[in-house]
Amino acid sequence: MHPERADRPGPKSIRHEGRHGLSPAITHDELAWFDFIMASYFFVAQAVYPGNKLTYERRVEPAAIRAIGRKPRDRREVRQLMHREPYWQMWSSLKRNNQEMSYMIRGGIVAREYADVARRAKTNASTGGTLRLDPNLAVPRYITAVDIHCQPGGYNHDGEPGGVWAGAMYDTGSLFLATGGELGVWNDGAGWAMVAHLKQRFPRLRPRRILDLGCTVGHSTLPLKQAWPEAEVFAIDACAPVLRFGHARAESLGVPVHFSQQNAEATNFPAGHFDLVTSAMFLHEVPQGAMARVARETHRVLAPGGVMIHAEQPQYHGQGPFDQFIREWDTFYNSEPFRCPFRDMDLMRLATDAGFSSKHVFRDMAAGAMKTATGLERRGDGFWFMFGATKDAQRPS
Ligand SMILES: C[S@@+](CC[C@H](N)C(=O)[O-])C[C@H]1O[C@@H](n2cnc3c(N)ncnc32)[C@H](O)[C@@H]1O
Repeated sequence: MHPERADRPGPKSIRHEGRHGLSPAITHDELAWFDFIMASYFFVAQAVYPGNKLTYERRVEPAAIRAIGRKPRDRREVRQLMHREPYWQMWSSLKRNNQEMSYMIRGGIVAREYADVARRAKTNASTGGTLRLDPNLAVPRYITAVDIHCQPGGYNHDGEPGGVWAGAMYDTGSLFLATGGELGVWNDGAGWAMVAHLKQRFPRLRPRRILDLGCTVGHSTLPLKQAWPEAEVFAIDACAPVLRFGHARAESLGVPVHFSQQNAEATNFPAGHFDLVTSAMFLHEVPQGAMARVARETHRVLAPGGVMIHAEQPQYHGQGPFDQFIREWDTFYNSEPFRCPFRDMDLMRLATDAGFSSKHVFRDMAAGAMKTATGLERRGDGFWFMFGATKDAQRPS
């Protein structure tokens, strides 16, 4: 989703976010804080953000032309000049402050409610979904060393041995606040957007086994099972705290999924096991070397004719220096070190180096989608970049 679209709908209240068996109790004052923070995200994105462009066009670009006889050539040159501008500094500080407020309030809720949430997470499975953890898995340093998008402790913080802390932090309001509820009450809009795109692009696809990579708490995984109830759905993540939470959440919502703790760079699934391999908002959090291994592993576990799809943010390709500069903000100020490099990557090369044939690679912009009472509806107010490929029916792994 594009974070700065001026035409995004206004914020809904956090009161609209879906509640499930692990949702923590939230007080009246905390709800008021959430609504304030959500409104503040939108105010900064819609009312404050446009001044950056004006500052650039009216002050920075003309000054560059006077000083060096040309416009800034790339985002690095734009960055050097814009970083001196008080308006940009104000916008950037407000954005960062929104993130910190969000974690402050959510962290307070999780800390207070943790024991109760952890107790509920130990519920016995009832839908047929499973959870398999691997205490010997070496969680990659690119996960453990980063407090990703400023989340204290990142995805691997358990809070106690066998705990669910990171899952509770991620699930409690984070996506809903940052997107103004644009991903739906269950924060599953990326999953539904992939389903809608796959149904349109591959109308005959009837996956028997699906694998979702980097599932976190399964927000985008559950729609895959709901869309193809006959399929067995597997979801992997490297971090146990989010998987424990995701498993209990899926059970409480009555959706059977097989969660397991695995590194997507090298899984223990047999070759050719899956008809569909997906990921949502995952690739941009993986460094390039690891991403190449993930792509090769995806090719290995896909059956001939199987489909890989990743719901992501658009790349830099085709964007001017100012727009590129604005979109690198998260890498510099929101602890997302791999986001900017992902936007620069040659995804065709990633796919072909992994074994996919170039004629089977797709890179599409797809409208958002949402499951409603009447079916799957396309939504025109947001878009996803869908990158994927089909595995050549004749090609060996
Ligand atoms: C942004 S989150 C994905 C969000 C999730 N797909 C959703 O739709 O809500 C990225 C996740 O990828 C996981 N991850 C990163 N590198 C991984 C790897 N090599 N193997 C497995 N999981 C990984 C992280 O632990 C984190 O939970």
